[in-house]
Amino acid sequence: MVVQIKSMGLFGMTAYDVNVETDISRGVSSFDIVGLPDTAIKESRDRVRSAITNSGFGFPNRRLVINLAPADIKKAGSYYDLPILLSILVANNAVNCDLSKSAFIGELSLGGDVRPVNGILTMAIQAKKNGIQQFYVPAENAPEGAIVEGIDIIPVPHVINLIRHLRGQAPIAPAPHYQPAKQDLTYPIDFSDVKGQETVKRAMEIAAGGGHNLLMIGSPGTGKSMLAQRLPTILPDMTFEEMIETTQIHSTAGILSKDTPLLTQRPFRSPHHTISPIGLSGGGSIPRPGEVSLAHHGVLFLDELPEFNRNAIENLRQPMEDGVITISRANAVLTYPCSIMLVAAMNPCPCGYFGHPTRTCSCSHQTVLKYLSKISGPLLDRLDLHIEVPPVDFDDLTSTTKGESSETIRQRVNAVRLRQQERFKGSSIHSNAHIPSGQLDKYCPLDDAAKAVIKRSFHQLNLSARSYSRLLKVSRTIADMDNSDVIQRSHIFEAVQYRTLDRKYWQRT
Ligand SMILES: Nc1ncnc2c1ncn2[C@@H]1O[C@H](COP(=O)(O)OP(=O)(O)OP(=O)(O)O)[C@@H](O)[C@H]1O
Ligand SMILES: [Mg+2]
Repeated sequence: MVVQIKSMGLFGMTAYDVNVETDISRGVSSFDIVGLPDTAIKESRDRVRSAITNSGFGFPNRRLVINLAPADIKKAGSYYDLPILLSILVANNAVNCDLSKSAFIGELSLGGDVRPVNGILTMAIQAKKNGIQQFYVPAENAPEGAIVEGIDIIPVPHVINLIRHLRGQAPIAPAPHYQPAKQDLTYPIDFSDVKGQETVKRAMEIAAGGGHNLLMIGSPGTGKSMLAQRLPTILPDMTFEEMIETTQIHSTAGILSKDTPLLTQRPFRSPHHTISPIGLSGGGSIPRPGEVSLAHHGVLFLDELPEFNRNAIENLRQPMEDGVITISRANAVLTYPCSIMLVAAMNPCPCGYFGHPTRTCSCSHQTVLKYLSKISGPLLDRLDLHIEVPPVDFDDLTSTTKGESSETIRQRVNAVRLRQQERFKGSSIHSNAHIPSGQLDKYCPLDDAAKAVIKRSFHQLNLSARSYSRLLKVSRTIADMDNSDVIQRSHIFEAVQYRTLDRKYWQRT
């Protein structure tokens, strides 16, 4: 008799159906798994056998063949322990019920405990689309699965609980639909801790408001890292759709905490500069999303930008444009979303004092050029706002007047984001930074004076087509902050001011 149990597989961010077929026949006692399994699945043979006997069920002493279909997709992980075990018990008549609308997933311990696996949210979304009504998942993963409405997520702590449930002896209640609680965002740090630096704060507010990339350049101890660390405190609230997308990636990477099944705050990832290209972009022998994808709908902060491996940062160029990163494997191509705000900080030279108003730089001209050239032109072109972080003034530093709080700034940022959500309703655009070039005319109307200014700036600053469109998008955000539907001259002036730094540092020869 052939028994079929439904399960789900995960390839990158795509979930697909897997059927676990079991055939028990007469013959010499054996237990084989076929269907391109990797070593983890072979190991699952031993776990399943132990879990069955240790849970008090008999293991069939016959010829047992398990097929994981479709056979042409390479399956990885220990996800199929539970469906394999169940298919054996069903084939052995230990369970007898209709499972045509049920799917099962989970790793087993030798004692029969069901252990958590990665990517439950993505699989639950797909399972629902495929008409599955009950999705049996490891108990620890159930809150994550229960984010999806319209499908019963059954938490399974142990094999015995599952069998008693299927036999109708002790039904397990589906996990309650997970509703994120409205959180009061409190942070131990605040923008008001940063004295002075008003221009930088303004640039950060614009970046947060429209989702633009930002480069901060300045001498040591001027507060670049301090400012960047406070960026999460002014980021706009996430939409539910954004929460789901970001959670899916963290779930696939297996870094979702048990206590927060749904990420409700924008991620802020700040990898150390020693990170490898794979760590930043994703990939590896068992493909995993990189930091750039873990920062999806949030911030990727690269502190000390020139210290990063050049390949690692250059690899980000295309993903920064597309919002997705493609990873080529020997037999397939994976994509992970990575719609990010890139924020970077750097010193202007190795000693840190090139361009400093009062201190002398001890670097040679060549050393400065070599240092700055670590940031390629194309990467610089993608950083919408370039901002110089000047030394803090003594009066500012010792002043007792508190600057604006993060809460006040965040309220403004939220209002600006709300305008954008209205504007982009019904489209896949999330913020001004992601307006496609083809739709700039539609979303970025300019008045006549603004047109004249942008034309002049284009020639004076020798802008590329890309920096032109980025300039327009930043102006769009500044106009939004000014409650103006049409982009005016002053908005362009301000946006242009954030594109002049590269001339000061990079175009000096
Ligand atoms: N504007 C500021 N207001 C208050 N404190 C400041 C300010 N700038 C710097 N500091 C103090 O100086 C410390 C160092 O600042 P921070 O690490 O942010 O400098 P940095 O610009 O990142 O320097 P580096 O280039 O060396 O990385 C902060 O922890 C803070 O105590
Ligand atoms: Mg720093």
